[in-house]
Amino acid sequence: MLKKKRRAGKGGGGPLRNKTVALLFEKPSTRTRLSFEAAVAQFGGSAVFLSPDHTQLGRGEDLGDTARVLSAMADAVVIRAHRHADLETVAEFCAAPVINALSDLFHPCQLLADMQTWMEAHGDIRGRRAAWVGDGNNVCNSWINAAERFEFFLNIAAPDGYRPRDGIMQNAAGRAVLCRSPEEAVAGCDVVVTDSWVSMGDEAGKEKRLRDFAGYRVTPKLMKLAGKDAVFMHCLPAYRGVEVDAEVLDGAQSVVWAEAENRLHAQKALLEFLLP
Ligand code: CP
Ligand code: NVA
Repeated sequence: MLKKKRRAGKGGGGPLRNKTVALLFEKPSTRTRLSFEAAVAQFGGSAVFLSPDHTQLGRGEDLGDTARVLSAMADAVVIRAHRHADLETVAEFCAAPVINALSDLFHPCQLLADMQTWMEAHGDIRGRRAAWVGDGNNVCNSWINAAERFEFFLNIAAPDGYRPRDGIMQNAAGRAVLCRSPEEAVAGCDVVVTDSWVSMGDEAGKEKRLRDFAGYRVTPKLMKLAGKDAVFMHCLPAYRGVEVDAEVLDGAQSVVWAEAENRLHAQKALLEFLLP
């Protein structure tokens, strides 16, 4: 609905008129920042971008104190945090809704767009199967949570030392399973999804990671093992020739550009829901 309105040149009205959304980002972002700023603008509100370098946080102001001030002036706070615990601190001190724009543990806004994209490709996704190949990271954790919420199955192939924590696997109530290899994970599945092998904050271990993930690249050969209508997803940024081959990322099965665009539409729905 919001996507159709946007395509028809309609901004979607002014549900955020006179509303201010604070975006507190401790890490870089292209898609998440732009999609939130564009969503707020298209809904008639104002977004204010804040980063530690350009706020008193960078000079040691307490995060809880900062959160109280944000809460007093903004109608919602969108936060991208190094540590999930910091996001929880902000939520504790904020009366306004707090939205997780990525932490070391989860990336739920990405999954709103991912679920929209998968449904656009396959309709009802209940009972279907996705395969996560690569790092059992924040995006993988949110796929695990989504498996429980959207009632699909998730095969996960990740090297030793990079598998999701047991506690998070349990969130999926048996819908997420660990596989022994990428080949086993993707066999007959409807979606193949991966992410960078070096997430923000993991740069120090880059060389070791690149060695440890050998054999986990999504290649055209691996995609052939998936179902015939399978789609390829990646939250981006992607690194061609590292976690995914260019032929896959830029190939006919890839829906990554729709997935990126859907960040805008899905987050508009989220903002409308949280700020009625
Ligand atoms: N997928 C995603 O969250 O991208 P950005 O880091 O560019 O926001
Ligand atoms: N796992 C990646 C996702 C980037 C959108 C990271 O945390 O850097």
